[in-house]
Amino acid sequence: MHEFRYVNGKLYCENVSIEALVKEHGTPLYVYSQKTLTHHFQALDGALAPLPHMVCYSVKANSNASVLRCLANLGSGFDVVSEGELRRVSGAGGDPRTCVFAGVGKTVAEIEYAMGQGIFAFTVESEAELERINRVAARQKVKAPVAIRVNPNVDAMTHPKITTGTYSNKFGIPFEEVEAVYARARKLKNVGLRGLHMHIGSQLTEVKPFEQAVRKVAPLVERLVPKYGLDFFSIGGGLGIVYESALASGDPAWWKTDAAKDILTAESFGAALVPLLKPLGLRILVEPGRFISGNAGILVTRVEYVKPIGSKNFIIVDAGMNDLIRPALYGAKHEIVPVVRKSGPEISSDVVGPVCETSDTFCSDRPLPKVGEGDFLAIMSTGAYGFSMTSTYNSRPLPAEVMVNGRLAALVRFRQYLPRIWEAEKLPRWLKFHRLPPTVD
Ligand code: LLP
Repeated sequence: MHEFRYVNGKLYCENVSIEALVKEHGTPLYVYSQKTLTHHFQALDGALAPLPHMVCYSVKANSNASVLRCLANLGSGFDVVSEGELRRVSGAGGDPRTCVFAGVGKTVAEIEYAMGQGIFAFTVESEAELERINRVAARQKVKAPVAIRVNPNVDAMTHPKITTGTYSNKFGIPFEEVEAVYARARKLKNVGLRGLHMHIGSQLTEVKPFEQAVRKVAPLVERLVPKYGLDFFSIGGGLGIVYESALASGDPAWWKTDAAKDILTAESFGAALVPLLKPLGLRILVEPGRFISGNAGILVTRVEYVKPIGSKNFIIVDAGMNDLIRPALYGAKHEIVPVVRKSGPEISSDVVGPVCETSDTFCSDRPLPKVGEGDFLAIMSTGAYGFSMTSTYNSRPLPAEVMVNGRLAALVRFRQYLPRIWEAEKLPRWLKFHRLPPTVD
């Protein structure tokens, strides 16, 4: 469910016309719907209501301060993976005491900072990290709250680049070794064993792999609890969203169609997992990123040129792979729609950006309405891993972001001022003071 729809042939986010937003803020432009963010958070929170639980939004999906503030206001906790993300959460009004800190490469400085902030728990990914956390905690004379991340070796049946819970991934501690690690961890004086964590992958569109992983890990949790007094079990994030019928899925009626019947929803997730988790009697944590923000955002781009070559029709737009890397990196398919609906036959088209790489392609051979210079297209479902994965490749400034709430719209990030891209660079002395004459043959 989301809040992007056509009204009289024009695309709207909630009650705000996308055309009006691009007129004011230009393109490429990310537009977020606060109602959609709220809806997804509340749906998941509600589905887990029968359990003591905490929804920890995964900041990496979309870390704009307004997104974080909106979720903090709703009572969300946060899943962070760097000092930067933790600082963002605090800066946006979130509470560090609701934060879990994951990631295989936490530095000493990051551990020191997070500990000082009193985070909820570290998700520990190796024994070496456990020892490092123990050393830092000893120096600070505190006991660090930790959860060990178990790698359950369950295939999440998702894209290989976003699978995390099998033994060919770098994450967590193999299932069979976890109990021995807890036994050794107990001897570390400055580590407090608080929970167990797992996360098997991202963009899981079925509930089955979650169920499978929980069924496999629940008996382990039952063995660990009496020994170590754990008080939470985090089942990670990974809930998938609809990409291919993104626009249609904004319509409640679509959810009653055949196409929607096997799609993961907060309700089906809760219905399958609550009965498995409830008997554990622990607080359950979930760390959704994409599920909350994915369908809540679009990337709006302007058509610059239309270039037919052979049998191809290239629509060249002003957003590039630096603004949205998912299609180039994962072959992700985002629905693309015109901001103003067009009549007439569709043309098989490739929507491509201006970056000098063939992978700078948002879609290939896709039937799209005939568009021309100055038309706007919306790349749907880009609220997660869209802006947060941008770069300035080709020295292109980072795009602007807007948040919509009902009839209100606000710029929540300025388009990057071009010189900011190179402002941190400096010349070494030997280049600064010597200007070689140009070589001419
Ligand atoms: N918890 C942990 C420990 C994670 O590693 C992740 C994501 C999440 C939670 C949130 O996962 P989500 O609910 O958003 O699926 N850039 C990729 C996705 C990378 C996910 C990395 N870890 C993409 O654009 O598809």
